Amino acid sequence: MKNFTYYVPTKIHFGKNQIQHLPEEVASFGKRVLLVYGAGSIKTLGLYDEVYRLLDDCTIVECSGIEPNPRIDSVRKGVKLCKTHNIDVILAVGGGSVLDASKGIAAGALSKEDPWELTLDAKKIKVALPILSVLTLSATGSEMDQTAVITNPETKSKRGFASDLLFPKVSICDPTYTYTVSAFQSAAGVADIMSHIMETFFHHEEGCDISDQVAIDLLKTCVKYGPVLLDEPDNYEARANIMWAGTWAINGFLVAGPGKKWSCHAMQHILSAYYDVTHGATLALLEPAWLAYILNDTNKDRIARFAREVFHVEEENTRACATLGIQKLYAFFTETMKLPKNFEELGIPTDANLEALAKECVKVRPGGHIDGYEVLEANDVYEIYKRCM
Ligand code: NZQ
Ligand code: ZN
Repeated sequence: MKNFTYYVPTKIHFGKNQIQHLPEEVASFGKRVLLVYGAGSIKTLGLYDEVYRLLDDCTIVECSGIEPNPRIDSVRKGVKLCKTHNIDVILAVGGGSVLDASKGIAAGALSKEDPWELTLDAKKIKVALPILSVLTLSATGSEMDQTAVITNPETKSKRGFASDLLFPKVSICDPTYTYTVSAFQSAAGVADIMSHIMETFFHHEEGCDISDQVAIDLLKTCVKYGPVLLDEPDNYEARANIMWAGTWAINGFLVAGPGKKWSCHAMQHILSAYYDVTHGATLALLEPAWLAYILNDTNKDRIARFAREVFHVEEENTRACATLGIQKLYAFFTETMKLPKNFEELGIPTDANLEALAKECVKVRPGGHIDGYEVLEANDVYEIYKRCM
């Protein structure tokens, strides 16, 4: 087990009607609020009106229209609003994109740097506005982490950056807000959560029993409740378990011990930057393709353990067991969860230059390769992309 520092300063209010805590939580940071939200699902949900009702003694300035795979121009717009209106606190109401944009805004609001410069070098973030969030989609874990992922369409790049200053101070996680999430976005969310867990579970560090066992249990929870989201969108237990699994998948607990050496997220970001594809749905293709590609005699035991414990594969031969588990993972995503079966269905054209994308993907990584569970060079990434065609 590696040394680690565990620091998560986010207060979570979890469960039905926890929005009632909003006035007291906002009041401890100020009265001038930037309300950040997306295309309008929060209005359909009734959350928009609820926020105005609960914060009737605050001045609310709106930053709406945050797009999925949020763009740097939306962050710039929010930063400008903060500076113009002397904002005290940012209230993000939405999914990961709204939360991530809010983190970019929080960092830029008190800085002279252009927000894109801060995403390129998060060490430049010296101070940030406080962020409160109301989560409406279970997927990214942004409600309890210090990371944001922002896209710059001009440079065709999608960048993740992190700063301890960007943890939300408070997140309200009410599973009933996710009843209205579409089947596709719900399934993509489950795939994203499982990907966060798998990216950590597949490691070579000895003696990480706690992380490993919790990872397996979180994955089993996703496999149990994920399909229920599609059949019964308003099943509270299913929505609640998936929401809490999503938070724990990426709040620093699982990487405490194994460390963080992820692979598929690095391969995902460039595809969203070029084709604006949905994050979780892309990972649902990359994870099985990646596992099948890297499977070897050194890692077969761990992949077989995943197969046995998460998908109840009973095959005795270790390598065959691992292969069957990978097939079950692909079938779970594409058949049970009804996610796209290949890049074309996902929205990546068949004539996409995957070789060039693979080269670009590794170019921005330290050392010019992906230093993940197994080291991946450009040609490895290209082979994995081809398996998703
Ligand atoms: O725009 P609105 O109206 O909000 O609609 C959204 C959007 O169209 C909709 N939605 C959200 N809540 C809803 C709802 N529709 C109906 N009912 C509700 N209750 O869902 C659509 C997708 O929303 P989005 O926020 O984009 O999804 P998600 O939460 O999956 O976020 C994806 C973004 O997060 C990044 C991804 O790369 C991607 O940009 N990630 C952030 C991470 C982090 N901060 O740590 C880690 C992840 O690995 C990921 O990279
Ligand atoms: Zn993710």
